[in-house]
Amino acid sequence: MSLSIVILAAGKGSRMKSSTAKVLHTISGKAMLYFIIKESLRISDDVTVVIHHQKEAVQEEMMKHFDTIKFVVQDAENFPGTGGAVMGITPKHEKVLVLNGDMPLITAEALSGFEASDADITMSIFNLADPSGYGRVIISEAGVERIIEEKDASTQEKAVTHVNAGIYSFTKSVLETYLPRLSNDNAQAEYYLTDLIAMAREDRLTISPLLVDEEHFKGVNSKFDLAVAEEIMQARIREKWMKEGVSMQLPSTIYIEEGVVFKGESMLENGVRLCGNTLLENTHIKCGCVIEDSIIKNSDIGPMAHIRPHSHIEQTHIGNFVEIKKSNLKGVKAGHLSYLGDAQIGEGTNVGAGVITCNYDGINKYQTIIGKNVFIGSDSQLIAPLVVEDDVLIAAGTTVTSEKILKGSLALSRTPLKSVAGFYYKFFGKK
Ligand code: UD1
Ligand code: MG
Repeated sequence: MSLSIVILAAGKGSRMKSSTAKVLHTISGKAMLYFIIKESLRISDDVTVVIHHQKEAVQEEMMKHFDTIKFVVQDAENFPGTGGAVMGITPKHEKVLVLNGDMPLITAEALSGFEASDADITMSIFNLADPSGYGRVIISEAGVERIIEEKDASTQEKAVTHVNAGIYSFTKSVLETYLPRLSNDNAQAEYYLTDLIAMAREDRLTISPLLVDEEHFKGVNSKFDLAVAEEIMQARIREKWMKEGVSMQLPSTIYIEEGVVFKGESMLENGVRLCGNTLLENTHIKCGCVIEDSIIKNSDIGPMAHIRPHSHIEQTHIGNFVEIKKSNLKGVKAGHLSYLGDAQIGEGTNVGAGVITCNYDGINKYQTIIGKNVFIGSDSQLIAPLVVEDDVLIAAGTTVTSEKILKGSLALSRTPLKSVAGFYYKFFGKK
């Protein structure tokens, strides 16, 4: 781990056309920067993140996940640009890997070429049919000459298809020698890190080009790029879990966030969306379900059910158009069209079609506690706070207004049915 890593995350990201800092835009449920830091920590014990634009928000979000990284604030007023970003750092090791913060697809394995190289500068290059947006790498027979940013490039230079992927390793002495010599005499009046290449070249230092692939080194500058990166990340996440034994029908229609974990053997039908810190164990999720921050074991869910955060569901059947929020269900059947929120429901209980827990009175939320082997008839409303003890029968269409139904009881509230003979013909004037 004798490598220092600096991640540049201070820029504004104007091309995202967003009020959110670029590096906080999410892919698979986590900020882009999260993935880069996570991979960096696999190969370095000295990771520095350079921040400036929305620095508090960026730092706060990253500190939720990582406690061993350093933050340095760029003096972006006086030294804007990627070169300016590296000026304030104090690396621990002799070799410094610099990563752009907008490359969420990078992996530790993809960085191994930088670790292995002993050149003064190692830089990543890829070849693109459409190089627009990237800095072009000018290469002669003698090797890499310089990098020219798109905004400073001539028409001829713009036609070059070798581009700078945005990851470099430098020896500490290269940074110490050349960073103070950078100028901002260019189209963007910025201090470009990329100008170090031409300076080092002039002094005959060794510059080693590393040919890399776009799948790992893609830079995200626009919301279009973000969507392309998302597809690549999703394909990786799905592949990983399929290899762990999860079955997926039409995988390209399934969305699984980074924090989701599977155990045992689960099945996902097409169009499933799994978010947050969800855990699924031996569970079948039918098509069109959305599951957020929940634990589900040995159950079947959907089609088209919505399981909202902090639900814990075991040995349960949830059918179509059922919404569950912050509830605990074990050994339950809720087959159709229900809302169960802030509820605890015990084993053997059957929730009829259209049952609703009325958990909110407009000001506060209340709990509904339902015991074992309760039969809740269709279209019943359970007004919380409410405790329904074991072995209760709630008749269809009942609005439960008392706070407790005792064990073994029948609860029934109904308007008596009136049937008026011949009324239809009288009302519509038809025979
Ligand atoms: C940069 C490279 C370009 C390369 C491309 C690869 C430079 C001058 N250009 O261009 O050659 O092809 O990446 O993706 O380096 N940042 C700061 N402080 C700043 C400016 C930027 O920390 O003052 C950070 C950004 O937050 C971002 C990264 O540096 O994470 C790259 O900045 P960006 O503006 O995206 O550079 P590109 O124009 O893409
Ligand atoms: Mg970029």
